[in-house]
Amino acid sequence: MRVLVTGGAGFIGSHTVERLLAQGYPVRVLDDFSTGHLDNLPHHSRLSIITGDIRSRRVVEEAMQGVTHVLHLAAQVSVAASVEAPVSSASINVTGFLNVLDAARAQRVRRLVYASSAAVYGMPARLPIDEDAPTAPISPYGLEKEINDRYAALYRDLYGLPTLGLRYFNVYGPRQDPNSPYSGVISIFCRRLREARPLSVFGDGLQTRDFIYVGDVARANAAALEGGLTGVCNVATGESISLRTLIKALGAVAGKQPLVSYGEARAGDIRESAADNRRLVTALRVSEFEPLGRGLTRLWASCA
Ligand SMILES: NC(=O)c1ccc[n+]([C@@H]2O[C@H](COP(=O)([O-])OP(=O)(O)OC[C@H]3O[C@@H](n4cnc5c(N)ncnc54)[C@H](O)[C@@H]3O)[C@@H](O)[C@H]2O)c1
Repeated sequence: MRVLVTGGAGFIGSHTVERLLAQGYPVRVLDDFSTGHLDNLPHHSRLSIITGDIRSRRVVEEAMQGVTHVLHLAAQVSVAASVEAPVSSASINVTGFLNVLDAARAQRVRRLVYASSAAVYGMPARLPIDEDAPTAPISPYGLEKEINDRYAALYRDLYGLPTLGLRYFNVYGPRQDPNSPYSGVISIFCRRLREARPLSVFGDGLQTRDFIYVGDVARANAAALEGGLTGVCNVATGESISLRTLIKALGAVAGKQPLVSYGEARAGDIRESAADNRRLVTALRVSEFEPLGRGLTRLWASCA
C-alpha cells in the first residue's frame, strides 16, 4: 500500500500515520494545519507532507498521485461549530469529502477508508447501537457524516470504488487538543485536573459513553485499509461508562480528588450511548482494547 492520509497531522491522524510507518508503508499526509500540528508527526524517510486544503480539487488530485489507498480524516470536527456555522462546516465535511471521494474514483485508487462518526445515529432508539440502527443525526456535523456514508455507498454502486466508513465513538488519548472548548471531554478534564480547576459536568454525570483509546483507533484504521470490508463499521470498545465513573478513574490515575461542578444538562445531549462493536471485532479483527486505566495513565503523562 502507498497511503494518503488526509488530516494526518491531527489527533487520530498522527497516531495512525505512526502506525502505518511502523508497519512499513510509505505515507503521504495532506493537511491544512487548521487544527493539526506539524510536531505531531515524526521525521521519517517514508513520510511526505503536503500543506493544502481538501476543498481544492487540484490540491487533492496532486496529493493522490501514485497512491493506492486513501484514509480520509480531514474534517471540521466540532459538533458545536457545525451548529454555529453550518455552511462553512459543510464546505469541508461535504464538499471537501466529495472532492476526495471523486478524486479517488478518477485516479482509480484501490480503496478509500474515511472517518464517519457515531453522531450519525443521533438519539438511539435501542442499545447497543449496531450499524443497521436507523440514522437520525441531531446536528449539522452528524448530518454531514451521514451524507458521507450515503455518497460512499453510491460510489461503490455506481463506480465500483471500495469504501469503508468508520463510525468512531468517543476517542481519547495524547494529542487531543485540551485548549479547545470543542475538544473531547477527557482531554479537557485532564487539563483542568492538572491546573487544579473544577471539572464541569453538564447534567448529573450519569450519562454514558464508549471511550476508545486512540491507539486502538489507529489499529482499526490500519486494519480497515488492509482488509476488504466495505460499508460502515462502528469503532468502539463495546463497553460504556458514566462520566462519574470516568472522573473517579481519572482521579485514581492522577492521585488527586477531582473537584466537580454539576450544571444544567445541555439541550440535545445524548443520555446513554453504547456501541455494538461485533463488526470491528469479527470483520476487522480488532479486539483487546486498551483498558481505561492504562489509556488514562498515558494521557495523564502526556498532559503536562
Ligand atoms: N475524536 C473523536 O472522538 C472523533 C469521533 C468521531 C469522528 N471523528 C472524526 O475523525 C476525524 C479525525 O478527527 P480528530 O479527532 O483527529 O480531529 P483533529 O482536528 O485533530 O484532526 C483533523 C485534521 O484535519 C485537518 N483539516 C481540517 N480541515 C481541513 C481541510 N479543509 N483541508 C485539509 N486538512 C484539514 C486538521 O488540520 C487536522 O489535522 C474527523 O473526520 C472527525 O470528524 C473523531
